[in-house]
Amino acid sequence: MWIYQKSLEYPVKIKNPDPALAKFIITALGGPDGELAASTRYLSQRFGMPYREVTGILTDVGTEELSHVEIVSTILYQLTRNLSDRQIKESGFDTYFVDHTAGIYPQGASGAPFTAAVLQSKGDIFTDLNEDLAAEMKARTMYDNILRMVDDPDVREPFKFLREREVVHYQRFAEALGIAQERAECKSNFYLTTPTFDKNCTPPCTNVCSTGCAAKVRTSEIQIPSEEKRHHPSVYAFEVKRPY
Ligand SMILES: [Fe+2]
Repeated sequence: MWIYQKSLEYPVKIKNPDPALAKFIITALGGPDGELAASTRYLSQRFGMPYREVTGILTDVGTEELSHVEIVSTILYQLTRNLSDRQIKESGFDTYFVDHTAGIYPQGASGAPFTAAVLQSKGDIFTDLNEDLAAEMKARTMYDNILRMVDDPDVREPFKFLREREVVHYQRFAEALGIAQERAECKSNFYLTTPTFDKNCTPPCTNVCSTGCAAKVRTSEIQIPSEEKRHHPSVYAFEVKRPY
């Protein structure tokens, strides 16, 4: 559940409407690296995470991305307030206006509507976290590009804040990946459990359980002896009861 707080995470007070800016800035809402994609990605992926700490990071970041959807929507709303017909035509905002008037609609700078095809939820902690790291860098690059093209400080300041948060999110996903790597069956592989069809773990796995015995190099996907599970609980964490 969420509790709504009636204030923006970062204030937006734009004095001068500028529909030409809104036309490309809208990609931060509904574009391939926009905030709607980010929140949808993380708030979907969290259900497939095997560790509570990582689920918590995805919930935190996904929730914050929702607040960024609100900031970008507010920027777009303020940039397109009280426009004259002439401003709409001369700014090139007419192509958006004819479909949505000045309503907030999630789309990219090219006009392509938001699509979940830009994100993934794979149910694999390493796959999903690597996607998340890339997503944060792509969002940071998008904000770099927006900041290169915007001069108005009323618009620049909230975007500078949003860019900064992408860097923080990247760092948090790096922490989450560290948690996953720490608990992986074999530290020389970049996935949680080694499937039977994969090659042997080389160099020999250094994962050591709490009782001091070295973890097995390979794990059968089909039958895991209960004794093995007892000695190596972290290796079989996928079977640990999830919080949801
Ligand atoms: Fe982010």
